[in-house]
Amino acid sequence: MTAPDSNAAAGANSATPFDVAEADRLLMTTRAVRRRLDTERPVPDQVIFDCIDAAEQAPSGGNDASRRWLVIRDPELKKRCGELYAESGEFMNHIADRLDGTGHDKEQVFKSSSHLVQHFADAPVLVIAAIWGIHDNSGRPGLFDSVIQSGWSFNLALRARGLGSTWTTMLNARTDELAELVGIPPGVTTIVTFPVAYTKGTDFSAVARRPASEITYFDQWGFTRERASEDGTARLADGPGVVCELDSDARPADVWPVISDIEMPSRFGTELIGAEWQSDAPVAEGSTFTGTNKIGDREWQVTNTVTAYEEGKVFEWTVGDLDKPGGIWRLEVAEQGRGSRIRFSARMGYGSPTADRALSDPDKEEKTLNFRRGMWKENMQKTLEGVKVEAEEAAAVRRSERSSS
Ligand SMILES: Cc1cc2nc3c(=O)[nH]c(=O)nc-3n(C[C@H](O)[C@H](O)[C@H](O)COP(=O)(O)O)c2cc1C
Repeated sequence: MTAPDSNAAAGANSATPFDVAEADRLLMTTRAVRRRLDTERPVPDQVIFDCIDAAEQAPSGGNDASRRWLVIRDPELKKRCGELYAESGEFMNHIADRLDGTGHDKEQVFKSSSHLVQHFADAPVLVIAAIWGIHDNSGRPGLFDSVIQSGWSFNLALRARGLGSTWTTMLNARTDELAELVGIPPGVTTIVTFPVAYTKGTDFSAVARRPASEITYFDQWGFTRERASEDGTARLADGPGVVCELDSDARPADVWPVISDIEMPSRFGTELIGAEWQSDAPVAEGSTFTGTNKIGDREWQVTNTVTAYEEGKVFEWTVGDLDKPGGIWRLEVAEQGRGSRIRFSARMGYGSPTADRALSDPDKEEKTLNFRRGMWKENMQKTLEGVKVEAEEAAAVRRSERSSS
């Protein structure tokens, strides 16, 4: 076994051991490449070896050297793999046809996936990452969790050299046929198959993803901060927030009427007890409604302004003064599997008694914010559970109406 010269590879002699911008460019622009695989240009073995050597530096449970790689070049074998892939992936062609021209969020991914279904065997090489062992769901490390990171390193190494691929798992549905075709022994699990080629051009881009600030929680599940804290503790200045999410079997179309109903939170939460639009005009950004809140004996009213509104997707309102809000509340729904994911998030502003209390004693700022966030989280969770019930009831009614008509 030989160890590559890692320092030479890393250029480890400057203040940061890597050119971070360049490293991030590699990490952020390594895409699933399907339509831009150059099927005409040969891929030398040496490139595959180099990428696998890089990938083999990835961690494995117990440092157990059990990963194996299978490179398929033989045209007949590739053709048969392509047929197996197409049989498992036929559904992608149907979905692509159904979404074609609809502008649906997943239209492009299915168009591209369907292209791969039809051209899988055209890639100059197919590379299968496998491991000795059978997954027994025991929770012990070693199988999928010892291959995945290595598979991704392989992709990054390809991209660094002007090649590309797509992470594909569809052949995993045909392991018996695959094993027979290429002689994989019992006791080996195949995890992923990469159709590998040079790419047509190398100008791939980062794509839109939820920013870290919305999906990263600090100390408690769901506790977010809009900006990085300077001292690592929760500060009002960093936009502390709460996120709750719940999956529902109801489709987004059945969830939307529930989450865009301003009276809905008063049915399930304990603080907002009523809400009324201030005008009859259609709801849009800038629309206002009066909310009535109650904690203990204290009851108060406040004007809320709709600050984001995307029909069927996003409903956000800001409490009180837009320059100094009490909070910003946001309900979102998105397709998730056959149903939807409902997301309720909130961010604290400077215009609330909690904010005053937090700022009056910086030593207790985090504690004050977290205590209030705990209350919010409990209420938000209850609200989501109520939304789920109402949306699923509406979906059931709609289904039974449809079947009886
Ligand atoms: C576990 C896993 C399985 C995947 N399986 C397939 C597959 O069988 N076929 C395919 O075309 N893409 C597959 N993909 C690729 C995803 O569709 C792709 O990563 C996703 O659409 C995002 O595109 P991006 O990687 O370019 O950001 C898979 C990805 C992962 C992580």
